[in-house]
Amino acid sequence: MPKILLVNGPNLNLLGKRSPEIYGSTSLDQLVAQLVEAAGAAGYDLLPFQSNHEGKIIDFIHREAGSAVGLIINPGALGHYSYALRDAIEAVGITAVEVHISDVHAREEFRHKLVLADMCAKQFIGMGVTGYHSALRWLIDRARPPVGDH
Ligand code: DQA
Repeated sequence: MPKILLVNGPNLNLLGKRSPEIYGSTSLDQLVAQLVEAAGAAGYDLLPFQSNHEGKIIDFIHREAGSAVGLIINPGALGHYSYALRDAIEAVGITAVEVHISDVHAREEFRHKLVLADMCAKQFIGMGVTGYHSALRWLIDRARPPVGDH
């Protein structure tokens, strides 16, 4: 089955416990299980990865991008300043979709800048965890061959 990567950055291991009024009550395990199931039903393998370490995320992208059709990434705060992560996405040339659970543009000033944005084909921001499902759907629709192309 074609593979899609799912990367969650720093502090997203605390999903469900951390500021639930901002990030909701779904845990990362629950979210990943839902997304793995939805991907599987559409004929895709979803490979999840979470790390609190920038370099580990970059290593994962380097290692896995070659065998994947797309990347869903919530970089957490790294999205506001990690040019190294931005460059990793550019270097491997993967179709990337950026997700932020909260509406970063309506929050503190430092969250307004999104440095991965120009390397991402699409963003889903402020939709809660639904944004990940939308990202998955978007990647799958994009990868699907046009009708009549068999
Ligand atoms: C976040 C927004 C970031 O500003 C924050 O640092 C996170 C989570 C979100 O999903 O809304 O860790 O990426």
